[in-house]
Amino acid sequence: MRFLSSGESHGKALSGIIDDYPSGVDIDFDFIGNELKRRQSGYGRGERMAIEKDRLEILSGIRYGATIGSPISFLIHNKDWENWKKKMSVSSSGLCCDNDIEKILNPRPGHADFSGYIKYRFDDIRNVIERSSARETAIRVAVGGFAKILLKSFGIYIYSFVEQIGGIKANFKNTFNKFDEKLFILAEKSEVRCPDEFISEKMKKTIEIAAKKGSTLGGKFTLFAKGIPAGLGSYCQWDRRLDAKIAHAIMSIPAIKAVEIGKGILSSETSGISFHDEIFYNKKEGFFRKTNNAGGIEGGMTNGEDILISAYMKPIPTTAAGLKTVNMKTKKSEISLMERSDVCAVPAASVVGESMLSIVIADAIQDKFGKDNIFEMLENYKNYMNYLKNI
Ligand SMILES: Cc1cc2nc3c(=O)[nH]c(=O)nc-3n(C[C@H](O)[C@H](O)[C@H](O)COP(=O)(O)O)c2cc1C
Repeated sequence: MRFLSSGESHGKALSGIIDDYPSGVDIDFDFIGNELKRRQSGYGRGERMAIEKDRLEILSGIRYGATIGSPISFLIHNKDWENWKKKMSVSSSGLCCDNDIEKILNPRPGHADFSGYIKYRFDDIRNVIERSSARETAIRVAVGGFAKILLKSFGIYIYSFVEQIGGIKANFKNTFNKFDEKLFILAEKSEVRCPDEFISEKMKKTIEIAAKKGSTLGGKFTLFAKGIPAGLGSYCQWDRRLDAKIAHAIMSIPAIKAVEIGKGILSSETSGISFHDEIFYNKKEGFFRKTNNAGGIEGGMTNGEDILISAYMKPIPTTAAGLKTVNMKTKKSEISLMERSDVCAVPAASVVGESMLSIVIADAIQDKFGKDNIFEMLENYKNYMNYLKNI
């Protein structure tokens, strides 16, 4: 399955098209609605989240509640559009002259503003801001909702929690190897999606302090995929390696600057005999590992353990205090633009991370078990699982 999105942050609507989604899947619209809500929540989000209550309007690909194999297209309307109709007008009628709309010429360091303005030969950074904004991730979360629904049929579940915001870190060393569902339940209750209540409060405080200073924060979140059969992905070509596909998908989330598979960072400073997950066998469990430092992927393929990913997010580039920049026309020193913005979006990014991981795994499942029809896929899956059991 693949998808495309379009839409400006303050345009009329965002739109998405999912291609190659199997037929016969019952779609739980409330579930997808709740996924969109999860992306919009989190301590440290800007005022916009109070204005927008994202809802999906399906245009095609679904009949009587189930998919029909044709492209699924949908809209998410921007509620704020009413206030931006003139600034974001598709037509030039109604504008009296070039000066009618104030142009943005002071690029924000850390954003797409500077390079986008140059690359596309604009005279207004607004054109860059509107599409480079993380508003687009609402479409990814809707697509991720479809992917999660598909994965559920195969007993695969994706979870996330926040491990770090700014300098405040939680420590889940003991529970890190094997996913404990309790962590997710606790994360869902936390405003910063951190399972540790005490650390959650500290994270909220550090966000408040950053906001008071007119600054912003980044952090780190962890993703788990549970119920993954061995043998998804491949070592046969560079672009079929599942770890590479996951890294690409997670790195494509705005502001994510590093992706770690399992304990990848630790792997560079430890030795082979202490790092690699030794292989064991007994009749009851079959093949198993006692550790999961590899994060469930070896040789570009899943090995049957949980997939474990960490993602590192840089601080939000739009700061109330502003940053030094240069006016693209006058070349004079200025302070960067401040527009309604988040102080910290790590909790929301973790929900986007779940979606991107779900999409990559759903695609890998389709590679292995087919893509036309869910029942055909499930038959192929059952045969494969029987094969695995009898090795
Ligand atoms: C869920 C989410 C919300 C974000 N909200 C904002 C925001 O309100 N203001 C902002 O300047 N950047 C925000 N960002 C970050 C920018 O989109 C990002 O820093 C920018 O695209 C440049 O990052 P890049 O260099 O990784 O592309 C957000 C990112 C995510 C994932």
